Amino acid sequence: MTTNQGAEKAKVIEATNLVKNYGDRRAVDGISFTVHAGECFGLLGPNGAGKTTTFKMIYGSAQITSGELFVLGLNAKSHIQKIKSSIGVVPQENGLDPDFTALENLQIYANYFGIAEKAARDRAMELLSMMQLEDYAEKSIDTLSGGMKRRLTLARALISKPKLIFLDEPTTGLDPQARIWIWDELRSLQKQGTTLFLTTHYMEEAEELCDRLIIVNKGRTVAEGRPQELIESYVGREVVEFEIGPKEVEYFVSKIKDRFAYQVMRNRLKLFVRGQQTTRDAINEVSSQNVTMRKASLNDVFLKISGYELND
Ligand SMILES: Nc1ncnc2c1ncn2[C@@H]1O[C@H](COP(=O)(O)OP(=O)(O)O)[C@@H](O)[C@H]1O
Ligand SMILES: [Mg+2]
Repeated sequence: MTTNQGAEKAKVIEATNLVKNYGDRRAVDGISFTVHAGECFGLLGPNGAGKTTTFKMIYGSAQITSGELFVLGLNAKSHIQKIKSSIGVVPQENGLDPDFTALENLQIYANYFGIAEKAARDRAMELLSMMQLEDYAEKSIDTLSGGMKRRLTLARALISKPKLIFLDEPTTGLDPQARIWIWDELRSLQKQGTTLFLTTHYMEEAEELCDRLIIVNKGRTVAEGRPQELIESYVGREVVEFEIGPKEVEYFVSKIKDRFAYQVMRNRLKLFVRGQQTTRDAINEVSSQNVTMRKASLNDVFLKISGYELND
């Protein structure tokens, strides 16, 4: 547990019991969270969990069915224009205009924010260079790779120098190199004091970047905390895993159940190593088996709560 030193950090987002219905389908089912200035906050969950819908309510692309939402101290139900002018958004779909060059895409956006032409061009060129896209300034969007388009969309979100940025699955579909590049950029933005709010279905992305997160499933929050605290409290430090046949389940479970937290998944038994326990103790219990051991992850947390894997 960390203690607050000095004044409490400003709350930049406060959501209370947010609900979104599409017709009679409930996409978001009473989510509450608080995001503090300067942190990287994550919304982690599988496809269809309601992440994008939650984001859309925050930046005004979806009407709030019920609940309360304050962004930068402003009520999202009455001040959405003011909120939109103060934040940066990287939507799940880039939404870049293919009829214009990379530079023009940024300039058009700067125009929305009322940035004067000369300042807009300077800022756009500065961002293109920061994203290592200066050689593509005059090129059409079609010539950019997936990773470059994502970087351009991030540049676009930064055009007005927002202190709060929303990123909806910033690295989905990107190769590992492009992903790491974006991660580094996000860390550096956070170091400069920017508050980051991102969604992802990659647990390793959430573990890498997020100070705190909520895990959502079917429109509801199923866990909340710091990644390492969630892993330690739900799972433990390490996981020892091995395959068992259906007839062996009872035998192995009775052997270990008094000593280890465990989970049976299809044809696998997982032992959670926590507290004073050691991985060796766990392996000794199942010595004749073909075991694997690894660090516990947020995926184990999700699996334990929901019964299925985040990427299923
Ligand atoms: N415009 C829409 N109309 C009807 N249903 C929608 C719409 N957008 C999303 N949904 C549904 O709401 C649920 C949550 O979707 P979404 O917020 O996109 O999830 P995520 O971003 O976590 O993948 C899904 O079941 C999805 O099919
Ligand atoms: Mg989504």
